[in-house]
Amino acid sequence: MNHLAVIGHPIQHSLSPVMHMAALKDKELSDVYDYQAIHVQPTLLPEFIETLNQKHISGFNVTLPHKTTIIKYLDTLDSTAHDIAAVNTVVNKNSELLGYNTDVQGFIDSLDDNNFTYKNKRALVLGAGGSAQAVVYGLLKAGTNIEIFNRTRFKAETLKNRFDALGSITVQRNLKTNDSDLIINTTSVGLNDIDSPLPADLISEQHEVVDIIYNPFTTPLLKEAQKKHCRYINGLDMLISQGAQAFKLFTGIEPNKVIMKEALLSYFKNHSS
Ligand code: ATR
Repeated sequence: MNHLAVIGHPIQHSLSPVMHMAALKDKELSDVYDYQAIHVQPTLLPEFIETLNQKHISGFNVTLPHKTTIIKYLDTLDSTAHDIAAVNTVVNKNSELLGYNTDVQGFIDSLDDNNFTYKNKRALVLGAGGSAQAVVYGLLKAGTNIEIFNRTRFKAETLKNRFDALGSITVQRNLKTNDSDLIINTTSVGLNDIDSPLPADLISEQHEVVDIIYNPFTTPLLKEAQKKHCRYINGLDMLISQGAQAFKLFTGIEPNKVIMKEALLSYFKNHSS
């Protein structure tokens, strides 16, 4: 049996096992692979890496807080992981550790899957943390004009300076949306199901709205988008698409994203309070 995993700290709420196990079963690979969440504290990351072969772990996903610190243990990086200095997928190929970033393409695929267009469009990205890096990098490469707004403006400036060469990117001093086609929330505001990163009066029908949060399923930002009759998506399709690409890297087989989504939706249904 080959073991697959997702590592993080904390990790108990990860939904990756749900969607990967469903995809493995669907592709009749459950006898060859399993997928589990493994709690790895930052200080224990070296030990986890050293014992991969002993534990028969042939691949794993990486989430917070290890996405950048993992890099020094890897033998190769794909160009995206290299450029944004973040890895979310590692393949253990005969003890050679190959690092990938599937978050970037996962985000872009989630837009494509929902017929959101972004080439030559203007996107306002809220936030300048780890998730914003993936979103901004992917969109700039795809030819979107980006504006960033972040509570801490210095961090938005840093993000802009990092990716300036890739395309059109500016920092907003005062939050405004009248020039934006797309509004994308990458902040954690909304996780509490109470707050929105954007005042309601800044959202209108012209906007397409993306929140990369998927739990709550419809964040306060998306509820407002719904009220204003905007097209909107949450982060579930990004989660699925980054996972689908990781699955292909782990197994060589393209998973069925519909099956992965059904598994997640049914998990939500059974676990909602
Ligand atoms: P992630 O890796 O998920 O992006 P992160 O790197 O901690 O997480 O980034 C969180 C983002 O949410 C940041 O842009 C943060 O803004 P700051 O840079 O000012 O900290 C933003 N954020 C978190 N809580 C916020 C709040 N209450 N209001 C506005 N922005 C907030």
